[in-house]
Amino acid sequence: MSDEPVDRFDTVKPIGAFEEKSMSIVRHVAFGFLGAAAMSSAAAVASPAEIAANAGCMLCHAGKETAALGPPFSEIAARYAGQSEAADKLFVAVREGSTGTWGEMPMMPVYPEQVSDDDLRAVIAWLLEQES
Ligand code: HEC
Repeated sequence: MSDEPVDRFDTVKPIGAFEEKSMSIVRHVAFGFLGAAAMSSAAAVASPAEIAANAGCMLCHAGKETAALGPPFSEIAARYAGQSEAADKLFVAVREGSTGTWGEMPMMPVYPEQVSDDDLRAVIAWLLEQES
């Protein structure tokens, strides 16, 4: 006759493991939110290149590959080099849209909801510095 004691606490272990797993999911979600907050504060100090990429400018202005859609920024810089009013003129062109300056292809107006005034000025200053 064996009278071995049964370890009742064995049955508790899977529950503990499950709780540990769900805590780890909670931690991951919490870190996910922190990560998103860190990224949005990074976006507030985005470089002109990042602003232009986020605004979709580079879909048409990236360079030779996209030249059929819009003039590369380096060509725009070359064309307006040395013109003191270039930045203001181009600001208006982007806000109002442009057609016929470079070719048949029109550029749609880019509104402040898409790119703020400050961001657009930063992008234009940056593109005017580009060398071909
Ligand atoms: C769908 C394509 C497309 C997108 C997106 C686009 N552009 Fe353009 N862009 C063009 C085209 C095409 C022209 C040439 C228009 C013309 O010939 O007048 C142009 C012209 C320009 C010019 C020169 C205007 C002039 O008077 O010489 C600037 C500066 C410019 N774009 C900046 C931007 C910026 C900044 C963005 C993003 C906020 C942007 N573009 C987004 C297609 C685009």
